[in-house]
Amino acid sequence: MAVHTSTDIGGQNYRFAVPWTAAAAVFIMRGRRLGTVGAAPGEVFMSLLDDFDFDTLSAPVVAVDSDDFREGMRQLAAGVTIVTTSIGDQRIGLTATAVCSLSAEPPMLLACVNREAGAHDPALQSRVFCVNVLGAQHLDLATQFASSDRAHERFTTGEWGTLETGAPVLMDSLASFDCLLGQTLRAETHTVLTGRVQAVRTDPAQEPLLYSRGAFGTFAA
Ligand SMILES: Cc1cc2nc3c(=O)[nH]c(=O)nc-3n(C[C@H](O)[C@H](O)[C@H](O)COP(=O)(O)O)c2cc1C
Repeated sequence: MAVHTSTDIGGQNYRFAVPWTAAAAVFIMRGRRLGTVGAAPGEVFMSLLDDFDFDTLSAPVVAVDSDDFREGMRQLAAGVTIVTTSIGDQRIGLTATAVCSLSAEPPMLLACVNREAGAHDPALQSRVFCVNVLGAQHLDLATQFASSDRAHERFTTGEWGTLETGAPVLMDSLASFDCLLGQTLRAETHTVLTGRVQAVRTDPAQEPLLYSRGAFGTFAA
C-alpha cells in the first residue's frame, strides 16, 4: 500500500509516496552496489554496506594536467611546519605545509609526507612525530628543512627539546603537537600520517610564517 508522508530536511518540506512501513532502493555507484536509500514516515535514510571498499571503485578517466593542479594548489596559502621524528639518537625532520587538524576529541591531526623524504621511514618505524608550527622568525629553519643539500644543518640552529614522545620539539614554535603515530594511509607518492596528540605547547604571541604562490611571507590583516 502506498501512502503519502512528508518530512523536513534543512527547513524544506518534502513529500514522498512510500509504503507505510518503508521504501528502499539499492543505491548503485559506478556499477557497484553501495547500499540502500529509502524513506520511512518522518525520515529519509541511506545505509552503506559495512564492507563497501571505496578503493575498489575504478578511477574516473579524466586527464587533469599536473601543472594545472600545481597552479591551483599554489593559490592555497598555508601555515608552515617542521615535522620531526627521532629514532635512537637520530633526529630527522622536513618542512611541511600538508598538515591539518583531524579531530578535537580525541585530539588528532594529519600530515602528508612524501615516501622519499628522509623522515618518512623513521616516522613509521619510531611511531612518533611532532608537528612544529613556525613563526616569521623561523624562515631560515623552513628553508633548511626543505633543502636536501642543507640537511646537515638541520637541528644545529633553533632551540630543540622534547615533550612526551621524544620526537624533537622546537621550543620557540608558535605551537608544537607531539604525537604518537595512529593510522597511516599510503596514497601514491605520499603517506598520510595520523597523529594522536600527546602534548601541546603554544606561544600565540608570535607572527605565523606562511607559504603562498611559491614564496614565504607573513600575514597582513
Ligand atoms: C613550503 C614547503 C612545503 C612543503 N610541504 C611538504 C609536505 O607537506 N610534505 C612533504 O612530504 N614535503 C613537503 N615539502 C618538501 C620537503 O620539505 C622537502 O622535500 C625536504 O627536503 C624533504 O626532506 P629530506 O631532504 O630530508 O628528504 C615542502 C617544501 C616546502 C618548501
